[in-house]
Amino acid sequence: MEIIRVNASKEYDVVIGKGILPSLGEKCVSLFGKSKAVIVTDSNVKALWLDAAKQSLTLFGIETAVFVFEAGEDSKNTSVLFQLVEFMAENKLTKTDFALALGGGVTGDMTGLAASLYLRGIPFVQIPTTLLAAVDSSVGGKTAVNLPSGKNLMGAFYQPEFVLCDTDTLSTLPENEFANGMAEVIKYGVIFDKDLFDKVSGGNINDIEKIIARCVELKRDVVCEDEFDKGSRQLLNFGHTMAHSIEKCSNFKIEHGSAVAIGMVIAARASAKLGWSNDDCTQAIINANINNRLPAECEFSPSELADIALSDKKRTGDTINFVVPETIGRCVLKKIPVEELYRIAECK
Ligand SMILES: NC(=O)c1ccc[n+]([C@@H]2O[C@H](COP(=O)([O-])OP(=O)(O)OC[C@H]3O[C@@H](n4cnc5c(N)ncnc54)[C@H](O)[C@@H]3O)[C@@H](O)[C@H]2O)c1
Ligand SMILES: [Zn+2]
Repeated sequence: MEIIRVNASKEYDVVIGKGILPSLGEKCVSLFGKSKAVIVTDSNVKALWLDAAKQSLTLFGIETAVFVFEAGEDSKNTSVLFQLVEFMAENKLTKTDFALALGGGVTGDMTGLAASLYLRGIPFVQIPTTLLAAVDSSVGGKTAVNLPSGKNLMGAFYQPEFVLCDTDTLSTLPENEFANGMAEVIKYGVIFDKDLFDKVSGGNINDIEKIIARCVELKRDVVCEDEFDKGSRQLLNFGHTMAHSIEKCSNFKIEHGSAVAIGMVIAARASAKLGWSNDDCTQAIINANINNRLPAECEFSPSELADIALSDKKRTGDTINFVVPETIGRCVLKKIPVEELYRIAECK
């Protein structure tokens, strides 16, 4: 078992281990006493992992009510969010009760936001069941839902009371969802940690507990330095500028992880070609992607990609902070004029 202590505006533990879901009740009772929990989960995870979570809470005298929503990104909207907040009210949750997100990033993002809104904030716990949620969305305190105008436009910074990641839950993940999470793992390797990159780039993932723990540590460090996303946290956007364009060009048929995988290749190639980086990391990233069942290229034209990236970035002004890989294990932020997005997209 690995325990990572996060020291953000709130201090909390991220506990990662095999078969630790049954310890949930004991941990919750020690933190919240004999309270009430709203468990939030989606229609897929409900059938797989809800019973285990619920039983453990019941065993320790915690009363539960379960809110289930239709699995998928489409549910991450204000309508489901408000239904969830209303559900908390109907179940008469008080400030000493808590919400529990059992699922992937969609569940975690929406539950966290609902918990931050209901009664101006009740405690919440994250139980990530996707690799992406384990290494990325469950840590760092960003919560959100999508608006018709775009993704994650309505949200809050709100930290959980603790995060429990039972690696057994990943055993039921479809292959593509596991691969999506691996894209973010590769990303952490390129930004911060060559050893991590080398460990995963061959695609044989043996020690998932240690890999998740390392990613959580890396995210913890950058979040603690820049909790509210004003500076160094932006390094985590490596590969994401083009990834967002790719997702949009594909009408979200290309999943986030795959889009990030391609986005990292474009960013690396552009950095080498445009002279921002002396070390060309492109081939190493392509190999890591392919070995982890991720793509390395897409069919969209440079102008399609750049047009969308540019319209996204208009919001932030004339320059963007682009993440440049100097070498595997070290990235830097480079302020560039938005027009450079065209030259970057040419490197697809
Ligand atoms: N808050 C943050 O910092 C942050 C960071 C990255 C991504 N995100 C958000 O996370 C979301 C993506 O997360 P995700 O990829 O986990 O999506 P998700 O929650 O939709 O899960 C992906 C799919 O896997 C299924 N699933 C979940 N756990 C499972 C399991 N153990 N076994 C079988 N199936 C399972 C889900 O039902 C769903 O169909 C996006 O909305 C994104 O915006 C947030
Ligand atoms: Zn991402």
